[in-house]
Amino acid sequence: MTQIIAHRGYSAQFAENTMNSFIEAEKAGADGIELDVQLTKDGEIVVIHDEKVDRTTSGKGFVKGFLFKEIRKLNANTKGFKKEPIPSLIEVLEWMQTNRLVCNIELKNGLIPYEGMEEKVIELVSSYGLSDRIIISSFNHYSIVYCYRLAPEIETAPLFIEGIYMPWIYCKSIRAKGIHPKHSTVSDEIIKTSIDNGVAVRPYTVNKELHMHRLFKLDCTAFITDDPVKALRIRKQY
Ligand code: G3P
Ligand code: CA
Repeated sequence: MTQIIAHRGYSAQFAENTMNSFIEAEKAGADGIELDVQLTKDGEIVVIHDEKVDRTTSGKGFVKGFLFKEIRKLNANTKGFKKEPIPSLIEVLEWMQTNRLVCNIELKNGLIPYEGMEEKVIELVSSYGLSDRIIISSFNHYSIVYCYRLAPEIETAPLFIEGIYMPWIYCKSIRAKGIHPKHSTVSDEIIKTSIDNGVAVRPYTVNKELHMHRLFKLDCTAFITDDPVKALRIRKQY
C-alpha cells in the first residue's frame, strides 16, 4: 500500500512545519510527516523550510542569525489565531514517541552549509531510538553520503528536482535506500524499475487527484503531499 506522507505536516490546512500541522496530519491518518530543518546561531535544530524566517513567521532575518531562545519568540502560525513557535527537532522527536509515524527529515543544507548539521540530527534521532522510523533526505547528495557514513542504520534518500537516469545504480553507489523525485519528472517506468531493484520511491509534492491516482495504481512506495486527507480519501478506492 502506498504510504501517505504529509508535506510540512497537513500544510494544505494548517501552518507549515508547526507542531499543530504535524499533529493534525497524524489525527487525519497520514502514515508519516515530512519536515525541513535549519540551524540557529547557537546550533539548535529548528523545523523551518526557508533559510530566512520572513515568509513563515512574524519575524525577519536568517535562521542562523537567531539564538534559539530568540527564534522561539516568533509566531509560526500563519494560518490561525493561536500563536505557535517554530518547533525544535527535539520537540518533534519527543512527540513521535507517542505515535507510530515515519518522519522524513529534510536537511536544508543546499544553500547554507550548516557545520555539524548531519552529526546533530543523527545524534538526536539515535538518542530517541527512532532510527527505524526516520528517513533523511536532502538535495545536497554529499550530505546524504555523509549521513550514511555516520549512521548506516538510518535510511537516506536523495532529493531530485530534475529527471533521473537509472537511479537504482546511483542509489547503490551512494548507499541510499530510496529516492525522492519531483513527481512530474519521474516516469512510470522509472518508478517500477526502481522499486523492482529494491529502491523506495517517494515523489513530492503530489496534490492533484490525477497524480495521486497514478501513484496508487503503480503501488509506489509513498508520496509526499500537502493534503493527506485528500490522499487518504483516494487511497480508499485501491
Ligand atoms: O521532500 C520533498 C520536498 O519537501 C522538497 O522540496 O522545497 O518543499 O522542501 P521543498
Ligand atoms: Ca521539504
